[in-house]
Amino acid sequence: MRSINIFKKSNRPIVMTTAYDYVSARTASSAGIEALLVGDSLGMVLGGAENTLNVSMEEMILHTKYARSGAPDHFIVSDMPFLSYKISPAEAVRNAGRLIREGADAVKIEGGTEVCRLIKKLVFADIPVMGHIGLTPQGILKFGRYKKIGKKEVDKKYLLRSAVEMEKAGAFAIVLENIPASTADEVTKRIGIPTIGIGSGPGTDGQILVWHDVLGFYDKLKPKFAKNYKNLWEEAVDGLKRFASEIKNGSFPDEEHSG
Ligand code: KIV
Repeated sequence: MRSINIFKKSNRPIVMTTAYDYVSARTASSAGIEALLVGDSLGMVLGGAENTLNVSMEEMILHTKYARSGAPDHFIVSDMPFLSYKISPAEAVRNAGRLIREGADAVKIEGGTEVCRLIKKLVFADIPVMGHIGLTPQGILKFGRYKKIGKKEVDKKYLLRSAVEMEKAGAFAIVLENIPASTADEVTKRIGIPTIGIGSGPGTDGQILVWHDVLGFYDKLKPKFAKNYKNLWEEAVDGLKRFASEIKNGSFPDEEHSG
């Protein structure tokens, strides 16, 4: 359903995956995944980069268009990439508007209390905003490595304060990435908007994983929390090896596939 109304607190968990293109959006929406995220993780998963910092607005726009073509009736959130929303509020609103015009129903921004003023500005511009706290991958240079965030009391307090303020600022949902399950539970109970967890235990209002992780189609980074329900990587290598060997041994193209 292409409606923000799926982001309600209820007993029903909200199911999300990333989608970067026609194939991932179409398979995910056909499988009943309720909402899709054009995540800036595409820089790593599609581009092979070490982190998400090199992803541009142009890439996010292109992949938002691709995902929209595969899931015309699904709710799509697009990530605002590194530096697209922290230089100035005016630039942030303009960039968010570009994603909306190209097919997104909402944007996601990383950061806690410090992005609340911006959330208000985006919401004022009628752009729905999903927050993202905990391990925020655009902060990788500050974190040093991908790790659990919020183990210390001070970090936990910051996460709770951020979630409460983001709700007040008008965010419609918040991604909680790689935080302790007990903290994710507390945040989830404390706020009236749904939390979408990734690596943050079972107590959130919804869960999200990267499409390529769900399907075992990415070999570089294997977060502990990512469960592979298929091994498409092996399937792909196997299929391609068979294709190559049939060409070499002369069995492809056969009569059926000769056009
Ligand atoms: O970019 C991304 O894919 C994300 C999710 C993993 C939450 O932000």
